[in-house]
Amino acid sequence: MTATSLPPSLIRTLSGEHYTDPAIFALEQERVFEAMWFCVARSADLAEPGQFRTYQVGRESVLISRSRDGSVKGFLNICRHRGAKLCLEASGEVKRAFQCPYHAWTYGLDGKLVAAPNLTSMPDIDRGEYGLVNVHIREWLGYVWASLADAPPSFEQDVIGAVIERLGDVAAIDNYRIENLEVGRRITYDVKANWKLIVENFMECYHCATIHPELTEVLPEFADGYAAQYYVGHGAEFGADVQGFTVDGGEGLDRIPGVGEDQDRRYYAITVRPQVFINLVPDHVIFHRMYPMAPDRTVVECDWLYLPHVVESGQDVTRSVELFHRVNQQDFDACERTQPAMSSRAYAKGGVLVPSEHHIGAFHTWLQNKLSA
Ligand code: FES
Ligand SMILES: [Fe+2]
Repeated sequence: MTATSLPPSLIRTLSGEHYTDPAIFALEQERVFEAMWFCVARSADLAEPGQFRTYQVGRESVLISRSRDGSVKGFLNICRHRGAKLCLEASGEVKRAFQCPYHAWTYGLDGKLVAAPNLTSMPDIDRGEYGLVNVHIREWLGYVWASLADAPPSFEQDVIGAVIERLGDVAAIDNYRIENLEVGRRITYDVKANWKLIVENFMECYHCATIHPELTEVLPEFADGYAAQYYVGHGAEFGADVQGFTVDGGEGLDRIPGVGEDQDRRYYAITVRPQVFINLVPDHVIFHRMYPMAPDRTVVECDWLYLPHVVESGQDVTRSVELFHRVNQQDFDACERTQPAMSSRAYAKGGVLVPSEHHIGAFHTWLQNKLSA
C-alpha cells in the first residue's frame, strides 16, 4: 500500500526506521536536540553556588551549575586540556571550582581556567581562552533551558511561542507562577522507546478511553477519543462530581492563587518541542522533561509542583501524584509495547493516523523539515 492509496480518513505515520535507525537518531541529536532549546535542570535544584548537574544533550555531556554571581551557567562537560570528562556525577556540589581528575586543571564557577600544575610558568596561556566552553542558558518557569547552537533559535518564538500557540496568551501560564512552585515529587522513568513515540502518545487522546481509566473518570470528555485538548485555549473540564485532580477524584491541594475561575477545574496539556510536556491543573503543575538516550531509550523526568506551603508543611500529595503517575506508566507501557514493532516488516511503511490524530502529522512534517535543513 502506498501513501496515495490511503482513504481520506487516514494519513501515514513515519516509517519504522525513524524509530530504530541510529543514523536518523544521530541526525536528530545534531539538528534537533543540539540545535534547539533543551530543558534540563529545575533552577531550585541549583540553589547554591557550586551546585551542579550533568545532562546528555544530543551527543554532548553538559554541565549546568550555579555561579558565584547567582546566575546559572552551562558548559560542555569537557576539560580543555586533553578532554577528560570533568564531572562524572549526575549531580553534586563543589566549593569554589571544578577540578579535572586527570591532570588537575581547575576551572572557576564562571568557567575560567583558574589553576593548573605549573600554570604560572606558562604565562602565555589565556585563562579565558582555555576556560570551559560555554553553552547558552535561559531560565523560564523555574527551569533551566540550554542551547548548544552557536546562534540559538529565538527562545520567545520556540519555547514561549509554543505555550502561546496552545493557550492563546502567555498570561494563561503566568497565572500558575510555576517558577514559585516547589517540587512535591519527582519520578524518573526509563522508557524503552524512541522519544517520538512518547511525543506522539502525548499529543493524542484516542487511547485515553482504552488505557487511562482513572484519567477519563476525572476528565470525562477524554473518554470520547477526540483530541479536545488541542483546541487553542481549551482545557478539559473536570467531571461534575470530581473534586480535584486526584487518582480517585477526591479533593486536591490548595488552589494556586493566580488561577482564575475560567481556568479552575480544568486540565491543560502543552507540548514544547522537542522534549517538554507541561500539564496545568488548578492546584499543581506536572512538568515532563525527556532525555533521548538512544533510538530505543528515553529517560523521562517528571516533576509534580505545588505551592511552597503545601510541600513545606508535608501535606500528603500521594493521591494527587498517583493520578498522573498512573497515566505516565500507562502511556510508557504503550510506547514500550510499540517500540519492538518499529523494526518489524509490518511497519516498514509505517502505521496510520485517524482524524483525531492527524495533527501528529504536523509534528512529523516539522521534524522532517528539521532533519533535511
Ligand atoms: S585532561 Fe583535564 S587536566 Fe588533563
Ligand atoms: Fe496517555
